[in-house]
Order: sequence, then C-alpha cells, then structure tokens
Amino acid sequence: MDHENSSDLVIVGASGFGKEVAWLSRRLGLNVKGFLDDGIEPGSIVFNYPVLGRILDWPEYSFCKFVIAIASPRVRKIVVEKMSQVRSPDFATLVDPAAILEDDSLDIGPGTIVCAGTICTADIVIGSHCIVNKACSIGHDVKIGEFVTISPKVMLGGSVLIEHGVEIGAMTAVQQGVKVSQGAMIGMGSVIRKNLPANTLVVGNPPKTLRKLKEF
Ligand SMILES: CC(C)(COP(=O)(O)OP(=O)(O)OC[C@H]1O[C@@H](n2cnc3c(N)ncnc32)[C@H](O)[C@@H]1OP(=O)(O)O)[C@@H](O)C(=O)NCCC(=O)NCCS
Repeated sequence: MDHENSSDLVIVGASGFGKEVAWLSRRLGLNVKGFLDDGIEPGSIVFNYPVLGRILDWPEYSFCKFVIAIASPRVRKIVVEKMSQVRSPDFATLVDPAAILEDDSLDIGPGTIVCAGTICTADIVIGSHCIVNKACSIGHDVKIGEFVTISPKVMLGGSVLIEHGVEIGAMTAVQQGVKVSQGAMIGMGSVIRKNLPANTLVVGNPPKTLRKLKEF
C-alpha cells in the first residue's frame, strides 16, 4: 500500500484519554491516522484527527500499529479480546519522551502507554496494555500485571505488586512491599499501607471498602 508507513498509528478510543494519547504520539513523531470508536460517528473530527470507523473495522488499518486509549481495565481487556478474534493486531508500546526510565532496567509489554513526567527506576516490570499516566513515581522492583491503569501522580513504593486489571485513582500512594490483588480499584487520593483483596473498590486514608466489583 502506498500510504504504508512504519510509524502509522491508530488509537482505539476517542475520549479525553484518546486525545492525550494522540498528543503523546505526536510528541513521539508518530503518524496518527485517526481513531476507532464504537460510540462516535465515523468521519467526526476529534483533536484534529478523524474517527475512521468502528473498533471491528481495524483490519482495514492492519498496516498500522494500534493502542487502546480506554481508561477502564475491564473495558480495555474486552476491546483487546474483541480485536484479537479477527487476528492479532500489532500493538504499539508508547513511552513519552519526558518519562524518565532506562530500557535496560525495565520490561514493558505491548500496548502499554507511559505518559510524560513518570519516573521508573530499577528492575521494574510493566505488563501489556497498561496505562501509567502523567507524573507517576514507580519505585524499584515494582511488578505491574496486564491491563492495569495508574492515574496521574500515583506513587508506588519499592517492590509493590499490582496484579492484573487493577485501577488506581490519581494522587494515591502505595507503601513499599504492598500487594494489590487482581481487579481491585483504589479511589483518588488514597493511602494504601496493607495488601488489598481482589475485585474490591476502596477509598481513603485509612482505606474503606465501598463495594465488591465484577471479577476481572
Ligand atoms: C472511588 C470512586 C470510583 C467512587 O466513585 P463512586 O462509586 O461514584 O462513589 P461516590 O461518589 O458515590 O461516593 C461514595 C462514597 O465514597 C466517598 N468517596 C468517593 N471517592 C472518594 C475518595 N477518592 N476518597 C475518599 N472518599 C471518597 C464519597 O464521599 C461517598 O461517601 P459517603 O457515602 O460517606 O457520602 C471515585 O470517587 C474515584 O476516586 N475515582 C477515581 C478518579 C480518578 O482518579 N480519575 C483519574 C482521572 S485521570
């Protein structure tokens, strides 16, 4: 195809975070072809880029790389599974040039987005299809599973373990060595000093349980 280019990118999800990922992609010099979104009329313009079609139209753009810009871990997982039913898309890993990290002390999976101002130090693993939003501090030996969302200004102390599908609200601090189990969600501004159970929504300092969540 004559319009093929190895830096071509399609962003799945044209909401607010989709715009931020377009902004990040531009900073990386990528050629953003546009968005796929099931809830926005194809042909609409979002942040100067076209909505190209529905999510399942992705094979028309299989010469591109893809990234899912949808904050909810559960929805992001469903979208990846839906896209992969056709065949496996080529997912990009996007790291903002203003994130501070070294490739040889970090293992990041495909589909993962690391935003500006985030600092990752030594021996860190971040799984596939994660979002580590702006200005987070990720300490040594932190392990993050797949489909995890970390909101702006989160602090993860050394050796914290974040299992698959966890969502952490902005400005939250997690004490060193703590484990946050699969599918848990933490509200904005919380302080987490003890291990958290799976699929539970907690908020505050000390954290209180708001409700059980659907299994991740
Ligand atoms: C935790 C959260 C998901 C709860 O949302 P919700 O289910 O709509 O909950 P409600 O707003 O109905 O609040 C329920 C109770 O929890 C309390 N609460 C909600 N969020 C809280 C927070 N972050 N810290 C402390 N208490 C909180 C409310 O005051 C309320 O208490 P009450 O029952 O005593 O009145 C939401 O408040 C939150 O923090 N979302 C994350 C936001 C964020 O970080 N976004 C990232 C943007 S990039």
